[in-house]
Amino acid sequence: MSETWSIIVHGGAGLIKPERREAKRAATLAAVQAGAVVLAAGGTAVEAVVAAVRLMEDDPHFNAGFGAVLNADRRVELDSALMDGATLDLGGVAAVQGVKNPIEVAHLMLRDEPVLLAGDGARRYAAEKGAAMIDPEAMIAPHRRTDDVADTVGCVVFDVEGNFAAGTSTGGRPGKRPGRIGDSPIPGAGLYAQNGVGAVSLSGEGELILRRILGARLVADLETTDAATAADRAIGAMGGQGGVGCIVLGADGGPAFAHNAPDFAVAMAQAGKPARAFLNRGEWQGD
Ligand code: GLY
Repeated sequence: MSETWSIIVHGGAGLIKPERREAKRAATLAAVQAGAVVLAAGGTAVEAVVAAVRLMEDDPHFNAGFGAVLNADRRVELDSALMDGATLDLGGVAAVQGVKNPIEVAHLMLRDEPVLLAGDGARRYAAEKGAAMIDPEAMIAPHRRTDDVADTVGCVVFDVEGNFAAGTSTGGRPGKRPGRIGDSPIPGAGLYAQNGVGAVSLSGEGELILRRILGARLVADLETTDAATAADRAIGAMGGQGGVGCIVLGADGGPAFAHNAPDFAVAMAQAGKPARAFLNRGEWQGD
C-alpha cells in the first residue's frame, strides 16, 4: 500500500452559461471532495467513483440522475456504467427509467452477470436487488422542462492499493429517441479502467465517441505514453468534430484532461494536494 491516490471528476463537455458557471464549479468540486474523502480514509477506487458520481446524479446541475435531460417522450432515461480496473469487471445500465441512482445499479451489477442491461430489464434488476426506485416524473427537475444543456458526468480514480476504476452517468442527448444508448455505459467508448495502464471517462456526443472507440484509443495510448499526451491525442482524433472531453489518469496516477467543447467542468484531487475545479483547460496549469 502507498500513500498516493488521485481522482478526477467531470461534469460534462459543452458551453457553460455565465449564470451557471460558479454553481457548476462548486458542484464539481463537491463531487471530487466526496470521492477524496473515501480515498483518504483508505477506501477503494470503486467506492470513490460511486461516491462522486452518486453526488452528481443527485445534483440537478448535471445531466445525470435527478435533473437529467428529457428524451423525445419528455422522460428521463439514463445510461451509467462502472468499471473496476483490478478485475476488468464492469456493470452498466442503459436507457433505464425509474431508478434513482443508476451508478448504484451499475455497482450492484459489477460482480454479477451480465455486464450490461437495458430498458425494462435493467429496471427490473434494480428493483430485485433492492436499489432505490422512483417515479420517473420525480426525476424531472423544473429547469429541464426548458433547458436542454447536456452535461454527462464521470469519474476516474487511482487508489492507495494501485487500483484504477472509472464511472460515467448521463441522461444522454436532449430529445433523444427513446431507447437510444450513448457512449457512457459502453466500455472502450465512454469509460475504461485497467490496472497498470490507467483509467478514462468521456463526455460529449455519444455517437461520435462510439464510432471512434475513443475510450479504447485512450487506454491503448496509455500503455506507451503519459496521461496528458494521450488526452490530447484522443481529442485530436476527433478531427475537430463534436464537443467532446476526456478525463484521464495515467499508469502512475497522474491526471490530465482535454476537450474540444468550449468548456469542460473538471475537478481533481490527489494525496497531499487540495481539491481544485476548472471550467476549461485554460484554467489548468497542467500540474
Ligand atoms: N456522452 C453522453 C451521450 O452521448 O449519451
